[in-house]
Amino acid sequence: MAYKTREWRNSMRVMVDYNNMTEKFLGEKGFTDRKLASYASRANAAFRYVKENRGKDELYMGWTELPYNQKEIVADILQTAKDVRKKFQYFVVLGIGGSALGPIMAFNALCHLHYNDLPKSKRKGPKFYVEDNVDPVRMRDLLDVIEPEKTCFNVISKSGATSETMTQYLIILDQLTKAGVNVKDNVIFTTDANKGNLKKISDELGGIKSYVLPDGVGGRFSQLCPVGLLPAAVLGIDIQGLLAGAAYMDSLCNKPAMRRNPALMSAVLQVAAMEEGKNVGVMMPYSDNLKYLADWYCQLWAESLGKNVTLDGKPCNVGQTPVKALGATDQHSQVQLYTEGPFDKVVTFLSLKKYACEMPIPHGCENIPDVSFLGGHTMEELIQAENAATAYALTKAGRMNYTVWIPELNAFTLGQLLFLFELQTAYAGAMFNIDTFNQPGVEEGKKATFALLGKAGYAAKKAELDSLPAKDENCIV
Ligand code: PA5
Repeated sequence: MAYKTREWRNSMRVMVDYNNMTEKFLGEKGFTDRKLASYASRANAAFRYVKENRGKDELYMGWTELPYNQKEIVADILQTAKDVRKKFQYFVVLGIGGSALGPIMAFNALCHLHYNDLPKSKRKGPKFYVEDNVDPVRMRDLLDVIEPEKTCFNVISKSGATSETMTQYLIILDQLTKAGVNVKDNVIFTTDANKGNLKKISDELGGIKSYVLPDGVGGRFSQLCPVGLLPAAVLGIDIQGLLAGAAYMDSLCNKPAMRRNPALMSAVLQVAAMEEGKNVGVMMPYSDNLKYLADWYCQLWAESLGKNVTLDGKPCNVGQTPVKALGATDQHSQVQLYTEGPFDKVVTFLSLKKYACEMPIPHGCENIPDVSFLGGHTMEELIQAENAATAYALTKAGRMNYTVWIPELNAFTLGQLLFLFELQTAYAGAMFNIDTFNQPGVEEGKKATFALLGKAGYAAKKAELDSLPAKDENCIV
């Protein structure tokens, strides 16, 4: 069944405005039509690669089908979310990386910014926490504010072997056991269907309520599967709207011509900029609700594109360092650098045409012109003016920037943003001819951690670490 009316969906269309990347606005620092046209055949090949490989689990491209293939799962999640809201006062996600950034992002994007401080009657669900670190202070402080017996813990891990998540699980298991709670009553797993340690633990405990993190969906592409959908549903977020928004963006991107396909055009702009030395990609939402979308995007972009070998085995070192910034806050922190520092950045603004409220600025301080001019405007007008002014200042200084326009923030537009950036990442990876969906570069650190903590099978790695030369005291000042 279609989500709302066609008119409504079209009125909520997210659009990419790249005027400030072009010669017309940036002069010689901008892309000419000819330069962009020179990317057309590579863009077309990337489009075809993604289209031909959609849904292929073996290539980790199962995420492309998530907007379409989860009808029963969504129904199950909605029922579970209803039960969780009725039964629990706290909902805690245990996970890291792709298993945490999505839930954090959706929570901040679509819930009250002080959600946990609202009285129960004004919240749509239990208090909500995502624990994505193993800082002991953070765990202690969490345990100070929740009551384990009144908490539903959603353990999210595809492998069930991630040290951070499994450490958290062991602590929570101990807490629940001490509180006399049957673990099965308070824990939900989101994990691989057949493999992995959470599956084993579930079997040992006689079956824990579990959702599947599908085979062909990697962590950073998992927000639209149960990884993100269950926490979102518990918060009362319209998960059908999220999926409908993703499907809508997918339909907008179903065109091989880059100038008619927003994700493909964004990929071309970013790849062309990278190939001119723009090694830093700043994601700058002018919205506190979208602050953690920038975090989510940073993982997606960094882990997917930072690679040292092409698909045909040739050495390469590609990628772009993503940086998060928040407008207007970071105008007073980072924009000096963006405007006058090295010409090594592309700034992507996430700009809302309409905020959830306007917040009028009252008249006052009439004898102080520096202040009084603000009275009679709204905070919405002010933040939009600051966004426009920053884009103008960057453009005037010859700095590449473009804007993703969002009519308003809701589940449908958030779903569009997620799919836009996922597709953009897939296209950019295809243009570089790399494996966008693996992350071999994080393995070495994981192995060294195992060795340092004495995990069986890592003795050789421990010996390797022990054989490092002693630190030179002269290099410690
Ligand atoms: O994007 C990724 O694949 C990673 O960030 C993983 O999500 C993260 O390492 C957690 O892995 P797992 O789900 O196996 O615990």
